[in-house]
Amino acid sequence: MTGKYTFEYQVYSNINQLSTADKALLQQARDITANAYAPYSHFQVGAAAKLHNGNMVTGTNQENASYPVGICAERSLLATAATLFPSVAIDTMAISYHNLDGDSSKPVSPCGMCRQSLIEYEQRTGQPIRLILSGLGGDIYIIEKASQLLPLSFTGEDLR
Ligand code: THU
Repeated sequence: MTGKYTFEYQVYSNINQLSTADKALLQQARDITANAYAPYSHFQVGAAAKLHNGNMVTGTNQENASYPVGICAERSLLATAATLFPSVAIDTMAISYHNLDGDSSKPVSPCGMCRQSLIEYEQRTGQPIRLILSGLGGDIYIIEKASQLLPLSFTGEDLR
């Protein structure tokens, strides 16, 4: 017997191909990269989310001289959303970055730790989080559910 996992995601080559709402969210994620604190990596990440109640929340990476102490933009957004609007689902999160030392023209996707946190958020709110991934320009990926990025994931169910 063989297990197999595949998933599909949408690829767009231009922000103008997105809906008005998605375009605004991606633009917000791109803009908020300026508020990242990334003096060590020079890799400024910005995230912007639209919540189910219509509110918007943003997050940026915040680094530390003790490198592992830093937090990614995605998890900083999740902590803010959960604090300001507990138990409100996140409909869509856009993630962008500005690589001050290099290229910012292709999408990057959330790190493993953030994928785990995104799944926890989906489970606690009972709703999938749609992701829009893009640099400051170039291709845009849209992924319907954050959980698609972490197959066979470990969740609270496993602790029962
Ligand atoms: N980073 C994020 O904020 N999100 C990601 O999805 C990837 C990486 C941050 C962590 C660190 O501050 C810098 O980018 C370089 O890894």
